Amino acid sequence: MPPATSRSIALVERYCAPNYHPLPVVLSRGRGPFVWDAEGRRYFDFLSAYSAVNQGHGHPRIVAAAKAQLGRLALPSRAFHNDRLGPFLKKLCALTGMERALPMNSGAEAVETAIKAMRLWGYRVKAVAPDRAEIVVCEGNFHGRTTTIVGFSSDPGSREGFGPATPGFISVPFGDASALERAIGPNAVAFLFEPIQGEGGVVLPPDGWLKAVRDICSRHRVLMCADEIQTGLGRTGKMFACQHEGVVPDLYILGKALSGGLYPVSAVCGSDEVLNLLTPGTHGSTFGGNPLACAIGEAALNVIVGEKLPQKAARTGAYLLGRLKTLRHPKLKEVRGRGLMLALEFSVPVRPLVEDLMRRGLLAKDTHERTVRLAPPLILTKAQAEAAFRIVGDAVAAFI
Ligand SMILES: Cc1ncc(COP(=O)(O)O)c(C=O)c1O
Repeated sequence: MPPATSRSIALVERYCAPNYHPLPVVLSRGRGPFVWDAEGRRYFDFLSAYSAVNQGHGHPRIVAAAKAQLGRLALPSRAFHNDRLGPFLKKLCALTGMERALPMNSGAEAVETAIKAMRLWGYRVKAVAPDRAEIVVCEGNFHGRTTTIVGFSSDPGSREGFGPATPGFISVPFGDASALERAIGPNAVAFLFEPIQGEGGVVLPPDGWLKAVRDICSRHRVLMCADEIQTGLGRTGKMFACQHEGVVPDLYILGKALSGGLYPVSAVCGSDEVLNLLTPGTHGSTFGGNPLACAIGEAALNVIVGEKLPQKAARTGAYLLGRLKTLRHPKLKEVRGRGLMLALEFSVPVRPLVEDLMRRGLLAKDTHERTVRLAPPLILTKAQAEAAFRIVGDAVAAFI
């Protein structure tokens, strides 16, 4: 390992809480679908910062919007109006087809915001008895790392040691519509789910599940809340993954690519009936909805729409999935995905494989030990997809 690289890694290992296990590469530059390490070696970025960089690294239009806004005004707080919040939220509402949006920063904060909004709706509109509201969630979910959220995770590594868990959550198997219907009692206010489980290992539900969920939620007067922080904004080949089944949820939770990776920007989008319940003093954030975030968010959305990134993800994703399905390896159990949210599942731990991919010039991440997730920026061209496929093919062929 070059001395500058080992020095950088040693500093982090000495001073940072060891809450990640990064690959031994030190990145210092990014452009489009590529990143470069401190020695100038180029890599395909096939993680895209967990799908935050759908638009590619350093997208010139988003960078220009950020720079222009940095020189004007970054953070006056929501104690005053700012001239960037309205235009950003208008665009976001037009894109989602929702009436209102509430801007936050990280994805987990937006999920927490949605949980508060859904409970409030349960008490004020559905007339659930105080403190009895229940939210149904899925086994294998990943919605973030705050204490309430990890309390309803089924992953022991996320949950254990952080109790007591917040009450009011019921878990059902992902993709099982009848289990959802059975779990809905008189106090159920919402169903919170990912249309495709991302951190759970790129797990796709059976066809028809989203439609069934919409029907069940409507019949039982339960809010359908789609966490599209990872699947949304083009990643799966549609603007929102719910659109694969022509379904519109009651709430969308968005984050990650809402800023193209330049800044933490998230939001909850929904109806007047739900979001108007959050009155002054009931919720807020010092940074949420600041002009810098809004300028970046608006530019990020313009790039997704203007460059037709969902359509690109659908085309390039179908091509790459077809190529990956030609791979043969005795330990390769399944190749799956939708759009540019793809995965190779093996029957053995894949950390050595992702380390070999890194040495060959492609950065990807192992998830749940046996799955390699492949999620490049959506701007990836077909030629780049083919070049990346060849790297993956060579590494899989060499994988013991
Ligand atoms: C579906 C989903 N929800 C929520 C989150 C949490 O987002 P953040 O890490 O920005 O808090 C993630 C992050 O991976 C996610 O994939």
